[in-house]
This record gives sequence, structure tokens and C-alpha cells, in this order.
Amino acid sequence: MSHDPRAFRNALGWFTTGVAVVTTQLEGEAPIGITVNSFSSVSLDPALVLWCLDKGSDTLPVFEKCSCFTVNVLGEDQKDVSNTLARAGHHQLDGMNVVKGVNGCAKLEDALAVFECEVHARHDAGDHIILVGAVKAFSSAEEGRPLLYHRGGYQALAG
Ligand SMILES: Cc1cc2nc3c(=O)[nH]c(=O)nc-3n(C[C@H](O)[C@H](O)[C@H](O)COP(=O)(O)O)c2cc1C
Repeated sequence: MSHDPRAFRNALGWFTTGVAVVTTQLEGEAPIGITVNSFSSVSLDPALVLWCLDKGSDTLPVFEKCSCFTVNVLGEDQKDVSNTLARAGHHQLDGMNVVKGVNGCAKLEDALAVFECEVHARHDAGDHIILVGAVKAFSSAEEGRPLLYHRGGYQALAG
């Protein structure tokens, strides 16, 4: 199918998602993070999740090599974190509230949910790669409100 990429994006934009930051770290290097909305659950047993990375991202060389990553689900008050880690070429976690998780990757202390993964598989998929993570540990807030992404902009739950 040949298609207009903008029309395709617009159609995809009706599928409202949450927003997450995926963090990782290579041995001896500073941790990095990237804002994503392609996060999805895959399998309950074993516990597997996935997200997709644009092959054009500056972070590709790191995510091609890393053995772990952590998915940090953002709350509605974390738009600034989302915007910071969505800026081209800006993926440092400086000034953010992070601690080291059991998988060795940095995790955001204020996230609503955190999934600490080891890389289970990488799949080539067009202009993206699919990263599948085996969840080694997770945590979840008791309450809170998620940051939403809809048709190219942030939203919050009504009510
Ligand atoms: C809400 C939101 C969701 C995004 N989702 C993804 C995603 O799933 N995968 C991805 O590779 N980039 C995604 N991006 C883009 C990256 O966050 C970032 O803008 C891009 O990687 C910057 O270019 P760089 O990686 O070359 O620095 C998203 C951006 C925003 C604001």
C-alpha cells in the first residue's frame, strides 16, 4: 500500500495512549531516557512487554547494545519530563529523581508504574525496532492519574 504518512499518523492518533519514559544504561556510561507511547503489554506468564524505537533515533546505538531497560509510566504532572526526554538529542536524566533498579537501569522515582526489564528480543520492523522486555521487577502507585497522549497532544483523564 502506498500511503500519505501524515494521514497514517493522523489515523493512528485516534488510538489514545499513556506516555512512558524508557531508561537504559551501558556499563560505565551515564543513564539515558526516551519518551515513548508505543509501550504495550505482551504476555502475562512469562511477563513480557514491548515498545518500539525509531531507527532514526540518536539513542539507537545504545538500545541496540543494552541488556536491560526500564519502562516508567508517567503521571499527568510529568509533562515536563516527557517533553525533556522527547527533545532531539537530549536524553540525559540530569536533575531528575532517579534511583538504580534491580536490573541495573535507572528508574524514575515519581512514575506511576515501573517495569524493570532484561532485553528478551529485538525485532526489525520497518523504520522501527521492537524491543521486547522480560519483566524482572515492577512497582505500581496506589493512586494517581496518568498522562495521556491523543492526536499529537497531551490529555488527562476526565473527571
Ligand atoms: C508522547 C510522545 C511519544 C513518543 N513515542 C515514541 C516511540 O514510541 N518511539 C520512538 O522511537 N520515539 C517516540 N517519540 C519521539 C522521541 O521521544 C524523541 O522525540 C525522539 O527520539 C527525538 O529524537 P532523537 O532520539 O534522535 O534524539 C515520542 C515522543 C512523544 C512526545
